[in-house]
Amino acid sequence: MTALLLALDLVSAVVTAGAWIAAAVLASGLRPRRSPAGSARDAAATDVPAPDAAAQYVPAPDAPAPAPGIRRRGAWLALALVGVGVAVLVAQLLCTILLAGDGWWFVQEKVVFALPVAVAAAIAVIVVAGPELRGTARGSRPAPGARGRAALVGAAAAGVAGILARLVIGYPMELIPALVLLALVLLSAALAWAVGAGRPKRVVTGLAAFCVLVVVASVGVAWLGSAATPAALSATHEHGAAGPAEAPPGGVSVTDLRTPADAPGTRRVFDLTAAQQQVTLDSGRSVSAWTYGSLPGPELRVSQGDLVEVTLHNTDIDAGVTIHWHGYDVPSGEDGVAGVTQDAVLPGDSFTYRLAATETGTYWYHTHQVSADGVRRGLFGTLVVLPPAGVPESVDLTVPLHTLGTAVILGDSDVASVRDVAAGQSVRLRLINTDQLPHRFTLDGAPFTVVAADGRDLVGPTPVTGTALRIPAGGRLDVSVTVPESGVRLSTNASATASLSLAPGGAEVPRAVPVATGDLDLLGYGTADGQTLPAGDGRVEATMVLDRNPRFLGGRPAYGYTVNGAVFPHIPSIEVSEGNTVRLTVANRGLETHPMHVHGHHVLVISRNGNPSTGSPLWLDTFDVQPGEVWVVEFTADNPGIWMDHCHNLDHAAEGMMMALTYRGVTSPFQQGGTHANRPE
Ligand code: C2O
Ligand code: CU
Repeated sequence: MTALLLALDLVSAVVTAGAWIAAAVLASGLRPRRSPAGSARDAAATDVPAPDAAAQYVPAPDAPAPAPGIRRRGAWLALALVGVGVAVLVAQLLCTILLAGDGWWFVQEKVVFALPVAVAAAIAVIVVAGPELRGTARGSRPAPGARGRAALVGAAAAGVAGILARLVIGYPMELIPALVLLALVLLSAALAWAVGAGRPKRVVTGLAAFCVLVVVASVGVAWLGSAATPAALSATHEHGAAGPAEAPPGGVSVTDLRTPADAPGTRRVFDLTAAQQQVTLDSGRSVSAWTYGSLPGPELRVSQGDLVEVTLHNTDIDAGVTIHWHGYDVPSGEDGVAGVTQDAVLPGDSFTYRLAATETGTYWYHTHQVSADGVRRGLFGTLVVLPPAGVPESVDLTVPLHTLGTAVILGDSDVASVRDVAAGQSVRLRLINTDQLPHRFTLDGAPFTVVAADGRDLVGPTPVTGTALRIPAGGRLDVSVTVPESGVRLSTNASATASLSLAPGGAEVPRAVPVATGDLDLLGYGTADGQTLPAGDGRVEATMVLDRNPRFLGGRPAYGYTVNGAVFPHIPSIEVSEGNTVRLTVANRGLETHPMHVHGHHVLVISRNGNPSTGSPLWLDTFDVQPGEVWVVEFTADNPGIWMDHCHNLDHAAEGMMMALTYRGVTSPFQQGGTHANRPE
């Protein structure tokens, strides 16, 4: 509903602007043209006689004046267009009133700028241009005068400014851009008046030049701001005066926030080597990939309590590589974000990560250096942490879904794969979406339960049938199913060919008809157990308004993905202190889904679109904010560091939708760019 209203509002704004532009063009076309000698000069069209005929602005010399009948009809049409614009402006007002109920973020730029300016313009048109157009239409005056035409041009400009406010500025509309847009509207009207009133040419040229200057200066300032060296992400450097990148007194560097090498636990040692690799898929297709040794990367399967030590080597990934433990709340220095928690590992280099496997569940790992490119090409793998007693199911399979070019790999195969599972056996499927877009999974053949989301067990899951599971980019769901004699089949909307059948004898199970409809809504799934966040000390409230606006990304013009109107690295960090309870409100004004991912913390979902989560406590690290949605989540700031918060459609992150959550007193010696060409996004 919100997304629909946003679209309706935009369409109305475009119709209003279009009608007013057409009326303005039409009205100036009605004006009798002056001949070079000034003989056809129409007194009614000129409110203020020019003092010096020689200096007058003289339009094209031979343009003939429209015939009186045409002028009258043109004036009627212009009047009708003005009316259409005003009527549709009322629709804009209604949309805004309805949208306001969904949140201020959806209407702010309309309420503080677009609508007041449009209403003022409508009044000016009705009061000033209306009588002149009516006179022309009735034949009592030859054409609307300079003032009427100026009002119409001003209204047309106001309409355009309203569209720019919605699409270019977005949320929040601040004072300076509002004043710039307002100035342009007034200047357009003044320019139209100066032309219509036959003001001296230098006045007209001066006004036009001033308009151009305002536009160029605003774009220039935006460009300079984007090209400026971004402030370091750490909170202590935010205000510029903190000096060199060393820990302040009492502060700590991310490089000190590591898992100690002698931490308790059974040591589990892994080596992962990133390299370019030609991989032959089960279908026989060969794809060029970047891998951590295989596609998907090796599964790291460990037990709770282990001390996991992973050494990453880079053979020939020239862009550099890191490992980020997606969803695993590691110490900040182990988080694997190039330019924030470490330098990118270049060819020939290595880096050792240590994870204390304190939490069980399904996770994955991937590069966080030029990640949109690296992950897509295959730099990812899975991480499973088992409870000490293992899982209750007798078969335990990890099934990442990944798209590489046109190949879709489900588990480790791009074709229909089968597993021999005896009837009556229980199976856990750990579904992981490693792609950029949400995917639907369906499990046909038997009722199943969703036992975990993003690595955390759900409370009181109930059997589900005929319902699809929508997993956001980066998200995970564990499902548990008992295989019947006829078997079960896992399919996905991402591929018609890749599927996984589990059946006695290992036969392929046909896809069920009818196909599952609707998505399971985890906000109402399972049972509430009254679990809430521990009472923190101090609350921090932060809002992230997601949108898409033209912006400069590092000096290059782009249709950026914005948070609160800005793009990475210019989005102010959310600053917290250890122990704070943080409430994040995330609103999506755009047309695309944004799977928002918070590093270092799981968030407890409080509500979506104002409806509280009523099922099992839902602890997620990636939540899909669909167009028009508003999510409220909370977490405890219990893991000091500098953490990225970003959209896990990694293309969106690369185009700006990425920011930091920083703990006061934590600094980073790493920088974007530099000798390692660090690029966290
Ligand atoms: Cu899975 Cu910052 O990412
Ligand atoms: Cu996104």
